[in-house]
Amino acid sequence: MRPTFFHCTAVLSVICAAAAKVSFTAYANDFVDPDYILAGAFTNNTEQAQATITAWASSTAIGGPWTVMNKTITPPSGDKHDYMSWAPYWWPDCSGVGNTTALTPEQIWVTCPYVSRDGQFNPDVRLVDDVGAFQDMSEAVFYNTLAWSFATDASAKSTFESNVVSFLQTWFLQSDTGMNPNLNYAQMQRGPDGQIGTHTGVLDLKAMAKVTTAVLILRKGNSTLWTSDLDTQLISWTNEYITWLETAKIAVEESVAPNNHGTFYYNQLAALKMLVNDSAGAKNATNTYFDTLFLGQISADGDQPLEAVRTRPYHYHAYNLAAMITNARIETYVDPTSTAWNKTSGNGTTIQNALDFAMTLNASASGESAYVEELYPNVAAVASVYGDPTGKYLAFLNAGEPAFMGEAYILWNQPFALNDTSGLVTNAVTSASGTKATSTSKSTSTSKSTTTSAAYSIYVGAVGPVLTCISALLVGGLTTLVY
Ligand SMILES: *[C@@H]1O[C@H](CO)[C@@H](O)[C@H](O)[C@H]1NC(C)=O
Ligand SMILES: *[C@@H]1O[C@H](CO)[C@@H](O)[C@H](O)[C@H]1NC(C)=O
Ligand SMILES: *[C@@H]1O[C@H](CO)[C@@H](O)[C@H](O)[C@H]1NC(C)=O
Ligand SMILES: *[C@@H]1O[C@H](CO)[C@@H](O)[C@H](O)[C@H]1NC(C)=O
Ligand SMILES: *[C@@H]1O[C@H](CO)[C@@H](O)[C@H](O)[C@H]1NC(C)=O
Ligand SMILES: *[C@@H]1O[C@H](CO)[C@@H](O)[C@H](O)[C@H]1NC(C)=O
Ligand SMILES: *[C@@H]1O[C@H](CO)[C@@H](O)[C@H](O)[C@H]1NC(C)=O
Ligand SMILES: *[C@@H]1O[C@H](CO)[C@@H](O)[C@H](O)[C@H]1NC(C)=O
Ligand SMILES: *[C@@H]1O[C@H](CO)[C@@H](O)[C@H](O)[C@H]1NC(C)=O
Ligand SMILES: *[C@@H]1O[C@H](CO)[C@@H](O)[C@H](O)[C@H]1NC(C)=O
Repeated sequence: MRPTFFHCTAVLSVICAAAAKVSFTAYANDFVDPDYILAGAFTNNTEQAQATITAWASSTAIGGPWTVMNKTITPPSGDKHDYMSWAPYWWPDCSGVGNTTALTPEQIWVTCPYVSRDGQFNPDVRLVDDVGAFQDMSEAVFYNTLAWSFATDASAKSTFESNVVSFLQTWFLQSDTGMNPNLNYAQMQRGPDGQIGTHTGVLDLKAMAKVTTAVLILRKGNSTLWTSDLDTQLISWTNEYITWLETAKIAVEESVAPNNHGTFYYNQLAALKMLVNDSAGAKNATNTYFDTLFLGQISADGDQPLEAVRTRPYHYHAYNLAAMITNARIETYVDPTSTAWNKTSGNGTTIQNALDFAMTLNASASGESAYVEELYPNVAAVASVYGDPTGKYLAFLNAGEPAFMGEAYILWNQPFALNDTSGLVTNAVTSASGTKATSTSKSTSTSKSTTTSAAYSIYVGAVGPVLTCISALLVGGLTTLVY
């Protein structure tokens, strides 16, 4: 979500304009219909989004593969294969334990009681960064798989495919690097009564919905590198992890968390049921969500009262919306007759009502201007499903991010911009591609399309040089992690 500055040479400027027009954005969560992706029948207004996905595939792959073994601090089990993270909003209170300047950090972690300060990150949680590594792995797997599915250049296609397979093998399957299928030490509580994971830590793996999207695409797309042996190994891993998700104390606590934590829990559980080819189980999981937690999440006016009380209300409204949308997408995928999108809360309101309310929030007023773009993927998702007869969703995106047609999410939130009669989409593409309006006006859409395709072809054949160009994306880290 942060602005990025590019250093493009004159020679590369056209490529950069096409490929790196939108800085990398980690969308809170999503599930993308693998059949839609594999059909490849994308509308011609998605070319910018495809170029972005291709660029993000390369940029997110830098730094991989990732493994839980990379952390320098060992979990209480003594086994680094156990995933570990520290509760991000908890801070040591050493006032009752004597002279704190004499305590080493390691002593503080086990000696001082920890107290909660909602929304305030304790920066030392990054000393153990399995959460960042998983996040980076999931983005790389997601974008490399999408790019693999539609890449036309054989060399680039092969690179994307081998990236994904290497990243999945390293994180999940290899005996020397793989993660144990549990989150016993996720968002671990520190202090004298701590050293155990907490239910909020289950959220750390919410992007299993993105990983599952990728695995289903590899599997259904007949990837040669994603062999049936690897698929079987991952199904076996996932079955063990599903057992943990359905029986471990902290996982069961998370399943009844009334706010975004519960919503994301069902993203994960439902997605993983699909990964193990249990469509009925996936539907049961999303049904459970819509029949329980969802009922209490949206008030009559569309507000999300459980997110409104948090310290970053704009972020949390958008965050839970992404999770609600992901549950609706999964349910609709496993059962096309599902009415998930029309389901109503106890106050008679839908996901669309929640989005409409969130669009009225002023991120600056709550000091959250840095999070303003978080709502945009949700706007596109709602517009693609419920329609946008008045063009209000299109206008909202155009006002907030004129280059939105270059966002990756445009690829899988169709039909959307095709319905436009306002001219905004053409403007958006113009702005996104960085080309002059005169060459991309609506009346010359054919020449616009040609220009875009040409730039895209140059890009596909020039992955190496583009890496230089887009490496600026990585400055300061790939992702803005939010809880
Ligand atoms: C491994 O951990 C170090 C810090 O200890 C970090 O700088 C590096 O990015 C990590 N590598 C991966 C692949 O996660
Ligand atoms: C705490 O201990 C350190 C060294 O052990 C000492 O330098 C410091 O003055 C002590 N602080 C207080 C407030 O006693
Ligand atoms: C994958 O292989 C199956 C069986 O040969 C075939 O029916 C299917 O169309 C293939 N899928 C793709 C995306 O090529
Ligand atoms: C997946 O489940 C379907 C039925 O839902 C079944 O026909 C198919 O054989 C299963 N595939 C695998 C790989 O188990
Ligand atoms: C459906 O989900 C509920 C709640 O999680 C669970 O108790 C039940 O066993 C599930 N049923 C099936 C058939 O998976
Ligand atoms: C309606 O929303 C309010 C919060 O605005 C909530 O307190 C109440 O429980 C909801 N009613 C139902 C029936 O869910
Ligand atoms: C949003 O809040 C900021 C800061 O309080 C204020 O300056 C701005 O006018 C508000 N915008 C709208 C549209 O109300
Ligand atoms: C909601 O239900 C109506 C009536 O059955 C249907 O026409 C519409 O397509 C549904 N909307 C969504 C988003 O599923
Ligand atoms: C397109 O616009 C029509 C009305 O002009 C509306 O009924 C329909 O829902 C819109 N479709 C989309 C995908 O926005
Ligand atoms: C893009 O697709 C739309 C809708 O199918 C069509 O009207 C338009 O002519 C196409 N534009 C180009 C440049 O192919």
